[in-house]
Amino acid sequence: MTRPEPDRIAAARLASGSSALVALLLACAASPACGDDSAAPSDAATPLDAAEADLGTAGDADSDTTRDASASDARLDATPLDAGPEPPVPATIVRNRSLTWDQPSLLDDPERLGLARLMWLVAGDRHGGPLVDRWFRRFATTAHSERLGPQLLLEQLAQSAGVEPSLWDLDALPFRVTGVHNRIDLRSDAHCGEIRVSLASIDPILQPFHLIFLFRQSPLADDRDATGALHCRATARLWASFSELEEDAFTVAARALLDRALRADTFLVVETLEFLISPWEWRQWFLEPNPDSATVATLPFVLENRPLFQTVDSPRLNRPGPERDDFLAWVSANAAELDARRALVPDRFRAPSARVNQGVPWIPLDLSGVSPEVLGRYPRLRQQIEIVGCPACHATDAEFVQTSAERVVSPFYDKELRARGEHLRAIALGAAPAPPFGPLQAEPRLPP
Ligand code: HEC
Repeated sequence: MTRPEPDRIAAARLASGSSALVALLLACAASPACGDDSAAPSDAATPLDAAEADLGTAGDADSDTTRDASASDARLDATPLDAGPEPPVPATIVRNRSLTWDQPSLLDDPERLGLARLMWLVAGDRHGGPLVDRWFRRFATTAHSERLGPQLLLEQLAQSAGVEPSLWDLDALPFRVTGVHNRIDLRSDAHCGEIRVSLASIDPILQPFHLIFLFRQSPLADDRDATGALHCRATARLWASFSELEEDAFTVAARALLDRALRADTFLVVETLEFLISPWEWRQWFLEPNPDSATVATLPFVLENRPLFQTVDSPRLNRPGPERDDFLAWVSANAAELDARRALVPDRFRAPSARVNQGVPWIPLDLSGVSPEVLGRYPRLRQQIEIVGCPACHATDAEFVQTSAERVVSPFYDKELRARGEHLRAIALGAAPAPPFGPLQAEPRLPP
């Protein structure tokens, strides 16, 4: 598959026009010296580095620093970009320009965003067929959960396209891109947050099945202060500037941003939300070296299910025993931070996957055993722990799915987007507070 070239003519036109920042981005995307992934190493080291990533968020003590010092980013930072005086920050942030894209002209573009393109990137600039084949079958073989649904999609495809995954056209699988999401709110001291691409199965029977691909946003040259610390103001101003572009100029700028941001070496993790067979289930999939010597030559990396970010394993920790005792002691010692949604949940308390039955009342995390004094001081402690995890956030003020196959957002996401608009302006103006884990909106609905 060839990598799409940004529209250089439009880039030149823009350069003389409204937004200097957008023009710089376009020039950057067109220049091999400016973060072009074709020059980035596509050998085994690249996916491995990505596999070591966790979800970086403000306050998350992950080790993104090493990845951000990767060759391509260093090159990007070293490129002198004379942005001139900073453009004013638009007073109005347009949702589907600066926060989440729903335009068919952008989303229905298999060269940039389809499943084949995304799997190509995840596979480290290789055909993604063998990777998707292994991944969808893996749903049925993990020790903690055996889900037979996803591989049915492969069997259906094999009937028309044959059984050899490396020959499949992955865009023949029934997935539709449902959105591109600007997650600059998840910035850390190592990167400028994430850009995410969500897809949904549109098979008449084999759905709901949702995927979301998370990529790190590499800093632009002007995203650092004099000491080298990241503030991400340039990235925020770039996204904000999209709100004021003419339609055509916006489309060109958005495509250039995708070409720059979605790369094999910026891929972090892919998340799934699946209800092919009841109940609903959430998982996270990271690149890991293929442990199978028989297939490693054709498939060096596989997608593997790891414990869910910030998701406390309620069913396990509700059961009496040493694990529960350990958990309650940790909650007691960290109650203030947990109540403020600022504590990182250690791996040992996380669930490898989370499941919720539709139509069944919410099964709460049981905090009895934490001292009455602590529970009295933090009356919403249980809900604050739950809402930073996958199932509570998707099942409170949302019907499990945040962006539907029809590209409609949930009530939760609608409110979240309002908060993200404010937050984007604040970053651009250099006045954004570090957000907590979980929802950005001030008073989110909490689980019952
Ligand atoms: C704070 C609330 C929140 C939490 C916690 C959360 N999500 Fe989401 N999720 C969202 C929102 C909002 C979107 C829309 C895209 C975005 O904003 O990044 C989304 C999108 C998704 C999608 C695409 C389908 C859809 O519903 O739109 C998947 C799949 C997904 N999340 C999986 C997960 C998994 C797995 C976890 C746990 C590791 C998780 N989510 C945790 C709010 C949340």
